[in-house]
Amino acid sequence: MPHLVHYIYIVSAALFILSLKWMNSPATARRGVFAGETGMLLAVTGTLVGQHVFNWQWVFAAFLIGTAIGIPIAYIMPMTAVPQRTALSHACGALAAALVGTAEYYRETPHGFTMVALVIETLLGFLTFTGSLMAMGKLQEVLPQRPITYRNQNLVNLLLFGIAAALGVRLMVVPTDTWIFPIFAGLALVFGVLLIIPIGGADMPTVIALLNSYAGLSACAMGFALDNKLLVIAGALDGSSGLILSIIMCKAMNRSFTNVLFGAFGQLQVAAGKTEQRPVRSASAEEAAAILDAASSVIIVPGYGLAVAQAQHKIRELSDNLTRRGVEVKFAIHPVAGRMPGHMNVLLAEADVPYDKLVEMDEINSEFAQCDVALVIGANDVTNPAARSDKGSPIYGMPILDVDRARTVMVIKRSMSPGFAGIDNELYYMEKTLMLFGDAKAFVSDIVKELPARVAA
Ligand code: TAP
Repeated sequence: MPHLVHYIYIVSAALFILSLKWMNSPATARRGVFAGETGMLLAVTGTLVGQHVFNWQWVFAAFLIGTAIGIPIAYIMPMTAVPQRTALSHACGALAAALVGTAEYYRETPHGFTMVALVIETLLGFLTFTGSLMAMGKLQEVLPQRPITYRNQNLVNLLLFGIAAALGVRLMVVPTDTWIFPIFAGLALVFGVLLIIPIGGADMPTVIALLNSYAGLSACAMGFALDNKLLVIAGALDGSSGLILSIIMCKAMNRSFTNVLFGAFGQLQVAAGKTEQRPVRSASAEEAAAILDAASSVIIVPGYGLAVAQAQHKIRELSDNLTRRGVEVKFAIHPVAGRMPGHMNVLLAEADVPYDKLVEMDEINSEFAQCDVALVIGANDVTNPAARSDKGSPIYGMPILDVDRARTVMVIKRSMSPGFAGIDNELYYMEKTLMLFGDAKAFVSDIVKELPARVAA
């Protein structure tokens, strides 16, 4: 039987690795999710088969409760709320690791290397639990999004962490000092809260990726504490991929990684939200359809508004329609368009937009200058030329899609309201730009309706 468990674990670990690899591309992402799910099913089955289970009723009850909570969450939560749902998952995972560590401590009072792993596991687990809950609260706006700061905050945080770490070291050396454990766990829980409060809501998705990494490292330490190799592998994969993701997000949003890492800054990006009262040129769906019909190349630039309006199926219809008319259509994908990594890929994949039409920012940017029309749908910050030229702008240095280089720019949005960063967008006042005011889904649908009429005419 133990041999069988080892083989199951090897297959499971291989599936986790393949899952991460396949999730790198929209074309293989579904396969990646399936591989991850299968790997997890094998891991749980293998563990149950390999251990002497004292009480199957408890296992079954936990399975039922988990399923009863997990499935509705997956269906009910809108795609735009995925960052906070992810934070909740990390909180649960980290709490599980911390509680397993706590139970092991009181059950066995381990010594030596196992105790070192257990202290790391519980420290990271408890702080990730409260930190993730804070992050979720900020994103869901049940907690204030603004950074909460006070004098000597860094010093207080450092001191608190220092005391927790010192107590942890004491526990490693003298594990029988059981009175220390509750204080150590309590400090870790408080530190998780203090770590996140100075960070503004704008940086929360990056912080969530980082907390993902902490939860993974906690699980990895748990693997050492329980001598479970699969947990070590899965935790290390989770820890490293979370870290890589947060670095990628920092780069794409031009945020400093060290600031996020040490949680000590937190300029809330959402500024006053005032936009200038300057004239813009607007157009109707009929005029927009005429321009698209006359174009030979169109680049569609989706953003957060596309997700809010759930306009992905209508966009697909528009893209198909234009393609049939001989127009070359491509989609420009900015890494942080929307509110989570890969947001646009997920939405467009849902509408079965062919993957070869989705072109990443670095590749498509050189094509804007040759394209007839850039059709921006619910995107704002990721198209703002201020990121290239205005040193005083909060998004200065953030890589953007060079939409302003297209011959004609059309922007579908409901008003002149700013996007996530709360700043005005110079793109809207350019000579070549036409504002198409309306809800993304309704407006695209109107354009599609206008297109066949023009063919018949
Ligand atoms: P935003 O800059 O947030 O702009 C979205 C625009 O969509 C708004 O200006 C809004 O204008 C419009 N909109 C909203 N609802 C709409 C609807 N129903 N129909 C049509 N338009 C609608 O979006 P973006 O360009 O995708 O940029 C993403 C921003 O989020 C960046 O600042 C990025 O740094 C930040 N961010 C991204 C991530 C990740 S990982 N993706 C994580 C955290 C933060 P109206 O109100 O006028 O319609």
